[in-house]
Formats: sequence, C-alpha cells, structure tokens
Amino acid sequence: MSFEPAVATPAWSPEVAQRTAPLRERLQRVVPAIEWPVHAPWLDAIHELKRRRNAVVLAHNYQTPEIYHGVADVVGDSLHLAREAARVEADVLVMCGVHFMAETAKLLNPDKTVLIPDLEAGCSLADSINAADVALLRERWPGVPVVTYVNSSAEVKAASDVCCTSANAVEVVESLGVPRVIFLPDEYLGRHVASRTQVEVILWQGHCEVHERFSAADLRGLRASHPGLHVVAHPECPPDVLAEADFVGSTAGMVDHVRRAAPARVVLGTECSMADNVAVELPQVEFVRPCNLCPHMKRITLPKIHDALLHLRHEVRVPAPLVAPARRAVQRMLAVGR
Ligand code: 13P
Ligand code: SF4
Repeated sequence: MSFEPAVATPAWSPEVAQRTAPLRERLQRVVPAIEWPVHAPWLDAIHELKRRRNAVVLAHNYQTPEIYHGVADVVGDSLHLAREAARVEADVLVMCGVHFMAETAKLLNPDKTVLIPDLEAGCSLADSINAADVALLRERWPGVPVVTYVNSSAEVKAASDVCCTSANAVEVVESLGVPRVIFLPDEYLGRHVASRTQVEVILWQGHCEVHERFSAADLRGLRASHPGLHVVAHPECPPDVLAEADFVGSTAGMVDHVRRAAPARVVLGTECSMADNVAVELPQVEFVRPCNLCPHMKRITLPKIHDALLHLRHEVRVPAPLVAPARRAVQRMLAVGR
C-alpha cells in the first residue's frame, strides 16, 4: 500500500506546538529549546504515520532523546529489542538502531515489513568478521561450538551455533555445557565473559570503534576532577577500563544499575546519547559526559524515520538460505534463561 503525504515537509504551527507540548516538557533538560520547532513537526507527523501504517518503532538505548522519548514504542538493549521484536503486534516494524538489529527483528518476524531508516547504519564490530572467517575458525577448532554476539551479520549468525548479547553472554556460554567455546566477534566482551566462567573462551579480535576509545587513564582523570564519581561501563570497553569500573553491564544493565544505586554522580562508559536518555527520568543524578558517539546509530534521524514510514523504506530482508540457520542461532539464545 502506498499513499501520499499530507504535507511534504511538516511545518511548525501553533497546533503542532500544542500537540507536542507534553513531550516538550519531558525533554526540556536534554533537548535545547531552540531545537524544538525543528523536531516537533517531525514528531507530530511520525505519530500520525505510525497510526496509518499500524507500525511500531523500536529504538536502541543509543538513539537521540527526541527519537528515544519522542517516537519509540519499545526501547532497550539488544536483548530486549530482540525479545520484543518476537512479540510485537504490528504490520510494520521500524528499527531505530543499526543494521544487525533490523536483521534480527526480520529473522524473528519473517511476515512483517521491517524497515531501517538508513541502510548505511552499520557496525564496526559486525564488519570485523564474515562467514568465511567462521569456517576457518571451525577448521582450526573442530567440534568447538561458536557463540556469536548479536552484533554480527545474518551470514555470521547463520554460521554460528548460538547468539548472545552483552546481557546474557555468560549464561549462554555456560548453557552449552562444554569446556570451551569460540566467542566472536568482540574480543573485550569475550575476555569479560572468560573472567566470569570456567569455560575456556577462544577469542576473535573484533572491537567496537566507540567503546575502544575509552581508557582507564581518562576514567581516573574524571574520578580526580569529579569527587565521588561512580563509574559504569559496557563490556565492549577494553579490559583496563572494565577493571576501573564500579559496575559492568549491557546498556539496559547499566540503566537498571543507575536507577537502583542512584549515585550522586556517574559516568556511563558507553555511547553518549544514553546519558541524555536516562537523565530525563533521573534528574537528581549528575551525568558526567565524555561524549563518544556511534556514527552508525547517529545516521538515524527524525526526517529519515518519517521517510521510512511514508515510503516503506528501507526494507530489510535476509537472503533465503541464511534465514533458517540464523534464526535458529537467535532463537536458541532467546530460549536460554526462560
Ligand atoms: P547492548 O546489547 O548492551 O544494548 O549493546 C549493543 C551495542 O551495540 C553496544 O555497542
Ligand atoms: Fe557497533 Fe559500537 Fe556502534 Fe554498538 S556502538 S552499534 S558495537 S559501532
């Protein structure tokens, strides 16, 4: 089905201002007032298109606040988005995240239209390995199961035994009941898993371009300049950063931890937008912000979400031969801990 837009480029008006006023109030601490007349017409138009398309918007924790709080129906870490993608009732899913997240949503929803607002939203970690590399690893370590972080392409998932996310990696590795596993593609997450299990972990040297920029020296500098600073880090950070952290967890784990611990001052060793998103609900916490942006996540914008819903683009499809084996690896992960 295709239909013409009510307006080509939505415009600011008193009606738009009124309809978006509650959201404006909620976001006032993280979205500058001067930006609101730019965002609000898109927010208003996207809500209308979501209704007309029977669409659901899923947004990763790294999306900007106007997306995360403004248009998303489901927000969270990779594990939560994968689980919700399997449950969601809608004709169209719009993944505001990166390509592997949209592929995972498509694997779990073969009959739904899954859109990503920008096809170029990739991931340095996912790009660090392909199916031929996995075949070579299997040759080198015959019979050793391959555990693959969801930050990977469908072809790599299809070549794997089971997927995991940063939230369930130790659980997944231990669920296999084997003495050793091949873990890919993130070396630092793999090292973190190895530090928490008796299972031997054979590593691949993929890294996230955002998290590898954090350093323990920077964190120590921040602790010195911000007394009482609580340090929380994502397991994609290098080992010396994780050793410096007071808590290590997935993006959702980090948010839950900050909610529970309610530190006066905290630094989140992860992508920069997450602090803005959490700050909206925790005004009493001071977020110290070294700003490492993920250039791939930042490709997703309100005008592109609007275009995705209007023109039903860009549809994400998984090549037919990959669907069954890649879905099996994801579903095997989702069954762990049920
Ligand atoms: P989470 O699974 O913790 O949300 O991480 C995804 C990601 O891309 C981290 O860089
Ligand atoms: Fe990939 Fe890193 Fe961006 Fe996450 S933050 S999507 S791992 S490049």
